[in-house]
Amino acid sequence: MVKKVYIETYGCQMNVADSEVVVSILTDHGYEHTDEIKEAGLILINTCSIRENAEQRVWGRLKAIGHLKRKNPGIVIGMIGCMAERLKEEAIEKEHLVDMIVGPDAYRELPLLIAEVESGHKAVNVLLSREETYGDISPVRMDKNGVTSFVSIMRGCNNMCAYCVVPYVRGAERSRDAESVINEVRDLWKKGYREVTLLGQNVDSYNWKSGEHIIAFPELLERAAIVNPLMRIRFSTSHPKDISDELLHMMSVYPNICRHIHLPAQSGSSRILKLMNREYTRDWYMERISAIKSIMPECAISTDIITGFCTETEDDHRETLSLMEWAGYDFAYMFKYSERPGTRAARKYSDDVPEEIKTRRLNEIIALQNKLSIRSKKHDVGRIFEVLIEDFSKRSQDHLSGRTSQNKVVVFPGEGKIRGEYVSVKIESSTSATLLGKII
Ligand code: SAH
Ligand code: SF4
Ligand code: F3S
Repeated sequence: MVKKVYIETYGCQMNVADSEVVVSILTDHGYEHTDEIKEAGLILINTCSIRENAEQRVWGRLKAIGHLKRKNPGIVIGMIGCMAERLKEEAIEKEHLVDMIVGPDAYRELPLLIAEVESGHKAVNVLLSREETYGDISPVRMDKNGVTSFVSIMRGCNNMCAYCVVPYVRGAERSRDAESVINEVRDLWKKGYREVTLLGQNVDSYNWKSGEHIIAFPELLERAAIVNPLMRIRFSTSHPKDISDELLHMMSVYPNICRHIHLPAQSGSSRILKLMNREYTRDWYMERISAIKSIMPECAISTDIITGFCTETEDDHRETLSLMEWAGYDFAYMFKYSERPGTRAARKYSDDVPEEIKTRRLNEIIALQNKLSIRSKKHDVGRIFEVLIEDFSKRSQDHLSGRTSQNKVVVFPGEGKIRGEYVSVKIESSTSATLLGKII
């Protein structure tokens, strides 16, 4: 009988891409992927450690699936990914919910580790690597639409943002062979995909030595863009300290490189940015936004904000609000600061902003961003956008849903079009999250 693997993914897009690598490795070893947890002999939870509540969710989920194991003790349950790396053996000892702990650089060992569990032992491998990029592995695509996909171009992170656990759980930064990245983009094109997002914690520091020649991110992006003019290319994440004019000019030359940059500010206060070790100031950040807007006036900009970082005052908070207002973000992810054990902030500073103040500040930030998002969408009403169709709309099979180059979701009557096609849509109205229009 074929053994079936079920995998559930938490955290960022990197984890989504990693789950596809994991399934590929396991398929090569006789497993079959299933979306039905009840059919699975192997259950993997790909985990995230970025904030305390991300870990709480995983523990909750593991408790909930514990009953499957009581019914059928032969099932193997594995914790993989960032939380596995952070907690190591402790994750097995705590609660006795998992049989196997596998960190993000040890996925090639999965078949061996599973065999160890099947012979009655607990299995752990959390070794981080300086070289592993899984560059030679063809991910098994698990997306639902067959139109958009992620391609990982690097792993790890060499920045040491004081609040962040990623460098500890993902290890040192390393870039993936440019050739294998471009081959994967080409392969996706052939399979019918029409959009790829190139992924890295700091894509601007991508660096691959090809003989004497060094390929940096702008060149990689260009090579991805010329695979086919109808293949949309996105990327994430840019770091404000590293995003270069060269990159912006490169983007502006190719219409299929999407007009959207995710540029996490984290805070609008230079004092807090310094404590966070972000290596840029408010002025530097504003200058980078100005450069984007002058080189690509039609480019959308989104951000991440952390509120309530150590020592943050009302003045610092107001600086974050004023930066958001000034930048006029199209979209933002907003978080309360969550102290992560072992990080520089946890070792050196005290998490001294009271919970109720963090909550209030977060609410103010969310309210402001709602206003900015509504404004950004109102601005699009009456304009015409090229939309890549991704799926039916959530509400009705008569309507389709897709995104503009600026990454805004558009819903419109289908008129016989199908996913993967490009259509020109005139925007007639907007809600807080969506643009509504008609094909012209
Ligand atoms: N490499 C990306 C971010 C990856 S983590 C970058 O540098 O922008 C995604 C987001 O989670 C971060 O941008 C930050 O806003 C948030 N985050 C990271 N650590 C956090 C913490 N300890 N508490 C709250 N939010 C955090
Ligand atoms: Fe974390 Fe900073 Fe690296 Fe992003 S750049 S992953 S926030 S350490
Ligand atoms: Fe979470 Fe790991 Fe991504 S900690 S945000 S899944 S790199």
